[in-house]
Amino acid sequence: MSITEESVLLPKFRKMTTHRTFTMIKPDAVENGHIGGILEKITSAGFTIVAMKYTQLSKRDAQAFYAIHKERPFFDELVDFMTRGPIVSAILEKENAVEDFRALIGATNPEDAAEGTIRKLYATDIAENAVHGSDSDENAAIEGAFHFSGREIY
Ligand code: CMP
Repeated sequence: MSITEESVLLPKFRKMTTHRTFTMIKPDAVENGHIGGILEKITSAGFTIVAMKYTQLSKRDAQAFYAIHKERPFFDELVDFMTRGPIVSAILEKENAVEDFRALIGATNPEDAAEGTIRKLYATDIAENAVHGSDSDENAAIEGAFHFSGREIY
């Protein structure tokens, strides 16, 4: 296989597996010093980190990533929040990754999140809710490819 096919046309995330999900530790959790605590919850729950970076989204990145929410009244607030400081983005691997990770992070609103979940422990409110988790295998693949090239996934 040529370098072009391997690194550009066929990034590793594009194989439609059911065992990967995408996450971000959001600016609120980074600001509040929770990167270590959240990563410890993730790895203790049996997820393997196959890609990870510490980065900051531009306004354009955030608008594109959250385009599905562009008609929502909170869209501008969401873009401002997600761009105000650094995040940690990662691709995680585990059997049944999407569903298991959503169980680990808990409900979108931390008031509704189960005890022991990441959002119950670390989120501020429904807007500043500490972590993102993909909601389907298809979105996990799209979101992972948005943040990582094939060469950054191990
Ligand atoms: P997440 O589910 O990761 O992706 C969409 C994000 O929009 C969500 O996390 C919150 O950060 C944000 N969000 C969802 N609902 C609201 C709301 N009612 N008000 C403000 N922000 C919200």
